[in-house]
Amino acid sequence: MSNRLAVITGATSGIGAAYARAFARQGYKLLLTGRREPELQGLAERLRTEYGITVSLQLGDLSNTQDRQALVETIEALPELDALVNNAGYAEDGRLGEVAWDKHQALIDVHVVATTQLSHAALPKLLKSKGMLINVASVASWIPTGQSVLYGPTKAYVRSFTESVGLAYRRDGLKALAICPGFTITDFHSRMGIDPDRFYKKKGFTRAWTADQVVARSFQDIEKGKLISIQGWNYRLLVFLMRHLPMSWMMAALGRSESARFSK
Ligand SMILES: NC(=O)c1ccc[n+]([C@@H]2O[C@H](COP(=O)([O-])OP(=O)(O)OC[C@H]3O[C@@H](n4cnc5c(N)ncnc54)[C@H](OP(=O)(O)O)[C@@H]3O)[C@@H](O)[C@H]2O)c1
Repeated sequence: MSNRLAVITGATSGIGAAYARAFARQGYKLLLTGRREPELQGLAERLRTEYGITVSLQLGDLSNTQDRQALVETIEALPELDALVNNAGYAEDGRLGEVAWDKHQALIDVHVVATTQLSHAALPKLLKSKGMLINVASVASWIPTGQSVLYGPTKAYVRSFTESVGLAYRRDGLKALAICPGFTITDFHSRMGIDPDRFYKKKGFTRAWTADQVVARSFQDIEKGKLISIQGWNYRLLVFLMRHLPMSWMMAALGRSESARFSK
């Protein structure tokens, strides 16, 4: 049994739970975080039974300063750490002026502050173990999301931050990866009141992938030494187009389409 430890934020469902299963399969011990205690307890119990690993939980809201600080202190007190996955996240629907400031602040705290602060706390131990720092961004990090106004900008921060840290510590053995999923079948969209059965497409340019597929791809990419991981031909093509077509074309296309509205 391996003695390696992975910390995963937002492990309750979706991509975070898929990371918990993937690390458990590799024999890692786990520290899982989230707010929904019964779901997190249930997942921990299944992982203990199925993989015979140690799973600890730390409940908390990452938009709350005290809860964030408590997780920082937990990470600092760990004797060793082999992987940190900053996964917790969500989208808030609305244009800039349509959303109250405290909701904007909470999203910035979860996506930007928590990702940065937890990475900072974990870095010395990740350098010692030559471990993994996996931060969950989004294809939206390349796309203006005017109708969920802070989603794209905060995910752009997560991607750029991870690229910066990854390059800075590459020679020290840190394996940093920003994963940039497109539509992924999780609780993310149902939380926003969207019917998952109608929303997720099985084929075509906007097809959705499973959380397990996104996570499997990220492990392949980290092995290859990549800094960015994008699951699915459709989203790799989308990002290629966003990066290489003239900005004016993209803005015209986005302005015409409903895609600037993130959810509905
Ligand atoms: N699904 C997609 O299409 C998609 C695409 C691109 C990127 N992403 C990103 O993938 C990540 C995971 O989302 P998901 O798709 O797996 O959705 P999900 O199933 O809703 O999972 C989100 C996770 O984040 C946690 N979380 C949310 N707000 C939190 C807070 N304030 N404090 C602590 N934990 C919080 C949730 O746990 P609790 O509810 O227990 O707190 C949950 O475990 C997010 O960063 C999201 O932005 C998703």
